[in-house]
Amino acid sequence: MDGALAPSVRVYADLAAASEALAERIAEEAVRAVAERGRFRIALSGGSTPVPLFRLLAGRFRHRVPWERAEFFWADERAVPPSDPRSNFGLAERELLDPIGADPAHVHRIRGEWTPDRAAGEYAQLLRQFESPASPEAPATLLDLAVLGVGPDGHTASLFPGSALLEAAEPLWVGVEPHSAQPPTVPRVSLTLPALARTGLAAFVVAGAEKRAILDRVLSKSGEGPALPAARVRSLRPVEWFADRASRGLGPA
Ligand code: 6PG
Repeated sequence: MDGALAPSVRVYADLAAASEALAERIAEEAVRAVAERGRFRIALSGGSTPVPLFRLLAGRFRHRVPWERAEFFWADERAVPPSDPRSNFGLAERELLDPIGADPAHVHRIRGEWTPDRAAGEYAQLLRQFESPASPEAPATLLDLAVLGVGPDGHTASLFPGSALLEAAEPLWVGVEPHSAQPPTVPRVSLTLPALARTGLAAFVVAGAEKRAILDRVLSKSGEGPALPAARVRSLRPVEWFADRASRGLGPA
């Protein structure tokens, strides 16, 4: 390994329970960030796995999170307009932002309707405005928390195995993935590993027996596992995984 602390992996009965545990974690982190810095910056992902999480955050956890101090960002976006059902922003808007009445001034979406190059350039510039100055003890921080998922090939955000974007180094925080290897196969704009490395906590949520094989590989310390995109994610604190039993090959408890 590269000296980073090993990720923690917590296993829950099902996706509902994993989502609830992650919602608890988000509430804790948000309260702490607001107490320390007066705001909470969260990056969201797309896909189907975070939907129950978004619903919990907008429902039972609505009053546990100081949403008026939250600022929303995205780990990645597909090159489609917000009204397209494939839009990561559109999903979050329906399931979380509208229900909680998020302040539009605090919603920083990636412009999926623009050309990917332009959208990536604009997002990189925007993120620079949110960078906290580096101190001698700590690297400059960008976001407080990123919610991530993992695809069947080990991709996360829109960082796909073998993609040049995966090799992006500082100062490139946002880049374009021209050929998404997984559906929807539209170009993508994604945060890079260096941007995620400046995030307080990267939290993965993963569920379902169909994710078992890839999760075994991503969490394995040998073979090609450590080279998979999801395994390469680092955050300022050790990465946390919220997994259900099926994704770890376990039957019902
Ligand atoms: C995207 C996502 C992507 C997602 C994984 C898992 O835009 O596609 O951000 O990285 O998190 O593909 O997706 P599922 O939750 O649908 O399995």
